[in-house]
Amino acid sequence: MTRIQNTVDYFEAYEAGKLNPEGFWGRYASHEFTWRAPWHNVYSADFEQARFRWFEGAQLNITENCLDRHLHTRGDQIAVIWEPNDPIEEPIKLSYRELYHRVCQTANVLKRLGASKGDRICLYMPMIPELLISVLACARIGAIHSVVFAGFSSRSLADRINDAGCSILITADGSFRGDKIVPLKDIADQALEACNSVRKSIVVKRTETEIQMVEGRDVWWHDLHTGVAEICDAEVMDSEDPLFILYTSGSTGRPKGMVHTCGGYMVYTCYSFEQVFQYRDGEIYWCTADIGWITGHSYIVYGPLLYGATTMLFEGVPSYPDMGRFWQIVDKYEVNIFYTAPTAIRALAQCDPKLIERSSLRSLRVLGTVGEPINLEAWEWYNDVIGKGQCPIVDTWWQTETGGIMISPLAGITHLKPTFATLPLPGIVPVLMDEHGNEIHERIAEGKLCIKQPWPSMARTIYGDHQRFIDTYFAHFPGYYFTGDGARRDLDGFYRITGRVDDVVIVSGHNLGTAEIENALDEHEQVAESAVVGYPHPIKGNAICAFIVMDSNIQAGSTLEQELLDLVSTIIGPIAKPDKFYIVPGLHKTRSGKIMRRILRKLASGDGQDLGDISTLLNPEIVESIGQSMGLTTSA
Ligand code: WTA
Repeated sequence: MTRIQNTVDYFEAYEAGKLNPEGFWGRYASHEFTWRAPWHNVYSADFEQARFRWFEGAQLNITENCLDRHLHTRGDQIAVIWEPNDPIEEPIKLSYRELYHRVCQTANVLKRLGASKGDRICLYMPMIPELLISVLACARIGAIHSVVFAGFSSRSLADRINDAGCSILITADGSFRGDKIVPLKDIADQALEACNSVRKSIVVKRTETEIQMVEGRDVWWHDLHTGVAEICDAEVMDSEDPLFILYTSGSTGRPKGMVHTCGGYMVYTCYSFEQVFQYRDGEIYWCTADIGWITGHSYIVYGPLLYGATTMLFEGVPSYPDMGRFWQIVDKYEVNIFYTAPTAIRALAQCDPKLIERSSLRSLRVLGTVGEPINLEAWEWYNDVIGKGQCPIVDTWWQTETGGIMISPLAGITHLKPTFATLPLPGIVPVLMDEHGNEIHERIAEGKLCIKQPWPSMARTIYGDHQRFIDTYFAHFPGYYFTGDGARRDLDGFYRITGRVDDVVIVSGHNLGTAEIENALDEHEQVAESAVVGYPHPIKGNAICAFIVMDSNIQAGSTLEQELLDLVSTIIGPIAKPDKFYIVPGLHKTRSGKIMRRILRKLASGDGQDLGDISTLLNPEIVESIGQSMGLTTSA
């Protein structure tokens, strides 16, 4: 099996992947890639210890598969099209050959700075070609890249650099975001004050913002590259050597540095890219995510390049110079496959139809969504207005932890059902669990979503904390990987993801840990305690509501809300800012001292009725007072 071409293929492949995963994955992996040494075992799995190994004994370098192996067949084909923030500026197009040389050159630069296999390198960069090149250059020399989304604050950046012990940081003087410039280098400088491990900081000149260069530490990207060789042998990696670390928020505590490894991640991102989008030679593929998130890693960089596609990189935002920018870009490059997030779709659906009508959108063949559940209205708008009823929509469910798309229609092959991610990819075995922790065997069901069989691109650990990896993903349901999501299954076996069942809230497609935001709020000297929950929001999917308990005898000042917003921005980043604040007299606790968030979620969505059983609370009377502070009458 290579490309699934029809539903018969799909069901055959599905059975094969379930009954004989070794054969299924072994066949795909040997067919498509350049391996330096073969594996002796397709995989081994120990769910109890959360130890998973894929293509054991095999050796490879993922960049040889993204670049070198395409040089004979598609060296002159465009690998990457970069569209700048400002539509007046010239785009950049790099062929596979050009990209290969640029990656090799940067790899040599990193080596000259003393980087080698296993070192961690942090990338805090705008969406410019140098970001994609840096990712691949790290992989070329076997260094582990840790990309930090350029919207995070200096504190978040410092935490991530320190957690991974990065020795090099690559950043830029600034980042264009619509009509604004984000002072990336300044933010990075602040972060580095708290980071001892970073020896060198490489700075790309992008916005010409005035910056301070720290002698001995900071070096310009362009100076380092002058005269450096454009050929660099790829480091030979074991299949299970780490490829990258990427941080994601959890229910509790600090963000988790998810570790992905070389062989399995390579096989699965290529496989899923090919099957889901059904990419055809010569097509232009555009994923609007940022490389700072997993979607950018797997479906801007690795998946498309492994497959030999032409992938787009967009520096800007959907609203600049106006809300028609996406559609103008689609026409400008005749984009065939367009992959974005429901939040963007909802925001774009709100604007003046004229901004869409000026683009023909004729080139589009496949549409995709990712990151959060898509509501029916948004799905229909995407289908009718953007796809003109002609383009299959692949609603792709997956996670940072899964490395690649797990449940999704295959474009033009399997059936669509609006708001359903539909069927698992062959090789993926999802199950639903009931409240007693048992697998639900009935077809029509609702429960917690788990994955029963290992797959190649599953995260291998949390960097520096394997016990947390076990506890978070493998302890709730022994023998299964627990996703943290709830789902429904219909008569056809189609899955609909209903949302997180833990304390992660997805706001505009970004995962936010409520505990992390509470910790930030609690740093305010007048805040005694806080609780944060998500509530439904028409554009962002969810928004954040914060309940604040002030220190006794302190009246909230008029600037408190702004101070709290600034605090969250500084500690985490602007994406984590709450939308609503309520100052409340106290918070209701269970007998074990936990806040019963279910009630707060209900109140935050504006509903004070049917709060359920609150008799187990230590202080049930407080619920009514909280409701009063919000102007709600409660059933409590
Ligand atoms: C949610 C993004 C519904 C889900 C790739 C998951 C989705 C979390 C979908 C992971 C979808 C992602 N439908 N929900 N198609 N895709 N999610 O790690 O709750 O940023 O657990 O990875 O996003 O977010 P992450």
